[in-house]
Parts: sequence; C-alpha cells; structure tokens
Amino acid sequence: MRLKDKVALVTGASRGIGRASSIALAKEGAVIVAAARNEGDLASLAKEIGGKTKTVACDVTKSSDVAACVKQTIEAFGRIDILINNAGIGGYRPFLDWTEEDYDRIMDTNAKSTWLFCKEVIPHMLKQKGGNIVNVSSVAGLQGYPSEGIYCMSKFAQVALAQSLDREFYQQNIKVSLVCPGGVETHFAIGDGRTEGGANMKGFSTAEDVAEAVLLAVLPRDRSRIVNVIMRPMNEMT
Ligand SMILES: NC(=O)c1ccc[n+]([C@@H]2O[C@H](COP(=O)([O-])OP(=O)(O)OC[C@H]3O[C@@H](n4cnc5c(N)ncnc54)[C@H](OP(=O)(O)O)[C@@H]3O)[C@@H](O)[C@H]2O)c1
Repeated sequence: MRLKDKVALVTGASRGIGRASSIALAKEGAVIVAAARNEGDLASLAKEIGGKTKTVACDVTKSSDVAACVKQTIEAFGRIDILINNAGIGGYRPFLDWTEEDYDRIMDTNAKSTWLFCKEVIPHMLKQKGGNIVNVSSVAGLQGYPSEGIYCMSKFAQVALAQSLDREFYQQNIKVSLVCPGGVETHFAIGDGRTEGGANMKGFSTAEDVAEAVLLAVLPRDRSRIVNVIMRPMNEMT
C-alpha cells in the first residue's frame, strides 16, 4: 500500500484511463475523489473500488464546477495529495471542417480544465508542502497529426503547462508529471475507422497500461520526480 491515505482527485474518472487510474491508485491505498459528468458511471466506479471514495459530478470546462469539486474534496478529506488531469475529448476531421464551437469545446475540456484544476489545487499543495500532479496528455502533445489539429493544440498546452509548473514548483516539493500515451483502447479512440469492440483497436494499449504509468508518476520517492512517460502501443511506430 504505497499510497496509503493519500487523497487523489481524478478527472474523467467515469470511464477509460481515468477509471483504470482510479482503481490502480485505490489498490495502493489512496482515497479517490472521482470527478466526471456521468453520475451513473461514477457510482459504478465507487462501488467497484469500495471503501473511501467520493464521487463529484463536475463539468471540467466550468470554473464554478472545478472550484466546487476541489472545495468538496478539502471539506471531505482535508487535503489533496494527487491530482490527475485526465478528462479529455478528441475527434478526427479534416482541418477545414472544424468550427469555432469545436475549438472552444476541445480546448476548454482538455487545456482550460487542466489550468483550472491546477489553479485550485496548487494552493492546497503549497500549504501541505507537496503533492503530485499528472497531466494525461498524448503523443499528440509532442508532435502534430493530420485531422487532429485542435486536439494537438490542446495536448501541447497540457505539456507546456506541466513543464512550466514543474520548473516553478519543484522546489516546493510539488511534482508535475506528464503521461503521453499513443492509441489506447477506450471510448475516446472510436473514429478514424475504429469502432467500439472492433478488431482494429485491439493492437492499442489498454487503459490499465496507462494507469500503470500514472501510478509510476505518483509513487513516493524522495530524490526523483517522473517528468514524462511516453507510451506507444505495439501496433504503432514511434
Ligand atoms: N484513448 C486514446 O487513444 C488516448 C490517447 C492519448 C491520450 N488520451 C487522453 O486520455 C484521456 C482520457 O481519455 P480516455 O481514452 O480514457 O477517453 P474516454 O474513455 O472517452 O474517457 C474520457 C473521460 O473524460 C470525461 N470528460 C469528458 N468531457 C468532460 C467534461 N466536460 N467534464 C468532465 N469530464 C469530462 C468523461 O466523463 P463524462 O463523459 O462522464 O463527463 C470520461 O470519463 C484524455 O485526456 C485523452 O486525451 C487518450
């Protein structure tokens, strides 16, 4: 139990990578605060984990929801040791077909939400004299891909913020990590020829693979911090 009694707030915990990460962190003893919009999925996660788990219905694009989520966490458990900025959306479309509404939706869900949660959580981590933040970005946050322009922008933004926060706060013992997966077999990856349960997603990484990387980033170690974990499934070249 390497995270016994640590309080971990996971966004996008209702399914996919966020759900798998919540389960992996809980198995190491962490108390999970699971945030997402779908309350039914959150309730089933809480049931699966059992023990001390709090679910918070939260639209991560709304500053009022984010502030309320962090406030409820502090009221319930008195601290936040781990923040996993995982909630995200994507999509595949030729560049000229994307609209301004698409831009706002993707940037707000992936990039603005990461900033909002960091802004709310870091003051508590400073008071506690430490903490771990993980931004679940993507290989699309390290290089651009066709038909994913806005998504790539949003994922590069998460990388930029993590690098900036790491340099600003590592001396206060706040460790900011990136996990950058390639294709992962989740609801998110449907599209671009892939279907739910289709054989064409079977070569992808699993959500549990990514959860192991998230766990690696937050396990306690006195003399090091994990800066970036880059992952590739076995059916993709680098
Ligand atoms: N799957 C991949 O191939 C892949 C590859 C690289 C990186 N990633 C990244 O991994 C992260 C998780 O993706 P996934 O593959 O696990 O996808 P997923 O299965 O579709 O899960 C996405 C999660 O984000 C939540 N979410 C979306 N919009 C939200 C909002 N406005 N407010 C609150 N929660 C919201 C969803 O919950 P609700 O709908 O319940 O709100 C859901 O729990 C994303 O940031 C994605 O960019 C995925």
